[in-house]
Amino acid sequence: IDEIKKLVSDENGIIDARIYNDEALYELELERVFARSWILLGHESHVPNTGDFLNTYIGEDPVILVRQKDASLRVFLNQCHHRGMKLSRDDAGNAKAFVCTYHGWAHDISGQLIDIPFEKEGHCEPLDKSEWSPLQARVETYRGLIFANWDEQAPSLDEYLSDSKPYIDVMFNRTEAGTEAIGGIQKWVIPTNWKFAAEQFCSDMYHAATMSHLSGFTAGLPEELNLNDIDIPTQGNQFRAKWGGHGTGYYVDQPGLLQGIMGPAITEYITTSPQAEIASKRLGPMFGQRMMGQHMTIFPTCSFLPGVNTIRTWHPRGPNEIEVWAFIVVDADAPDHIKEEFRKQNIRTFSAGGVFEQDDGENWIEVQKLFRGNKARKTKLNMQMGLGDSTTDHPDFPGRISGVYSEDAARGMYQHWLRMMTELSWDTLKP
Ligand code: FES
Repeated sequence: IDEIKKLVSDENGIIDARIYNDEALYELELERVFARSWILLGHESHVPNTGDFLNTYIGEDPVILVRQKDASLRVFLNQCHHRGMKLSRDDAGNAKAFVCTYHGWAHDISGQLIDIPFEKEGHCEPLDKSEWSPLQARVETYRGLIFANWDEQAPSLDEYLSDSKPYIDVMFNRTEAGTEAIGGIQKWVIPTNWKFAAEQFCSDMYHAATMSHLSGFTAGLPEELNLNDIDIPTQGNQFRAKWGGHGTGYYVDQPGLLQGIMGPAITEYITTSPQAEIASKRLGPMFGQRMMGQHMTIFPTCSFLPGVNTIRTWHPRGPNEIEVWAFIVVDADAPDHIKEEFRKQNIRTFSAGGVFEQDDGENWIEVQKLFRGNKARKTKLNMQMGLGDSTTDHPDFPGRISGVYSEDAARGMYQHWLRMMTELSWDTLKP
C-alpha cells in the first residue's frame, strides 16, 4: 500500500506511468476498483420486457442482466456453479430460463438454480439449490442507466453519484419522457489501458481544442460547413466531484465545437429548438440549454458525451487492452428525424468507425505501445494544468470547479483510484 501511494500525487499533479502497465496493479484493480464500484451495464430500454436479458461484464466477470416479472432488474454472475461453464452464451435475448449447456443445470430468470438433471440418481441427498445458485450483484438505476456493484458495503448509487447528478441530467433528464437507447451496442477492442479512455472523457477538453481532432474536423466535417466556420471555444468550466472520481467539462454559450462534430441540425436541437426550451425549464437555462460540447466520466468506466449522445463502458481486458461497449441515447420524445440524425452523426463521429473516435484511439494506442520500453514504462507524467485554480463555492455549479482547460478532474479521478486501491474498508472510504 505504501508503494502504491507513491504512484499518484493529487497535490503535485504527477503520475507514475506504471499505473497504466503493471500486471500486479491490474490484478489489484480488478479486486479493489472493479469489484467495489458501480459499473454501467446498459439502459433500461435494452431490457423492456420480462425475461429480456443482456450479457455483459463487471470488470472481467461476465454477468447476465435480466428484467424480472415485477419489472425489477437482477444481475448475476454468468457462470454455472457445477463445473464453471457460462450459463448464457448469447449477446442478448429473451429467456424463460438459463440452462447450462454442459450438463443442463437450469436456473430461473432471477438466477436461482431450480433443476439438476438426474439429481436423485446422482446424489444421496438433494443439493441445497440456493447455495449453488450464481452470485448476485446489487443493481440500481439513475435516469434509465443501469449500474451494478458486487460490494454489499458500497454506498448506494445515489450517494455514489452525489454532486455529479446535475451534470448527468444534461443528457439524461431533458424531458419528462426520459431517454431511450437506439441502434445496437457497438463493441470494439483498443490496445490501451482503461484509465486513458476514462481520464480523457473525465477531464480532457484540451485535446479537442488543440491537436487531436483537427484531422477529424478536416476529414469528417458535415458537408454544409467548412473549417473556417469552426470557432474553437474558450468559455466553460471543468467539474471535479467532491467525492468519487467523477468529472466533466463543458463550454457555455459557444456551440462551435458541437457544431463541428454533430452539424447544424443537432446543434439547433440542443441549443435553440422547442425541446431545448423544455430542457431549459426543467433543468434551468444553464444546464438545460447553455452547456454544450460536454465530456463526462462516472468513475471508473462509464463515459459519455452530451450533445453527441454516445455512452460507453470501457471494459478492462488486462492492463494493455479494453473492450469498448458503446450505444446511442436520445430523448424518448425527440422527433423521429432528430433520432435518425443522432444515429447517423454518431456513426460518422464517435463509433467503431467514427472519424473522431479514431483520433482518440490512435493517441491511447501509441502511448500504450511506448510502455514496452524499460524507461518509458516508469516515466513520470505531468497532469498539473489548473493546479491551485479551483473553487468549491461557485454560485452556479456544484462540486469543485475550475477552467475548461484544466486537469483537476483527472487529478480527482486518480486520487479516488488511489483511495480505492489503498483503503480496504468503507469505514474510511465512504463519502
Ligand atoms: Fe453447468 Fe455442469 S457445468 S451443468
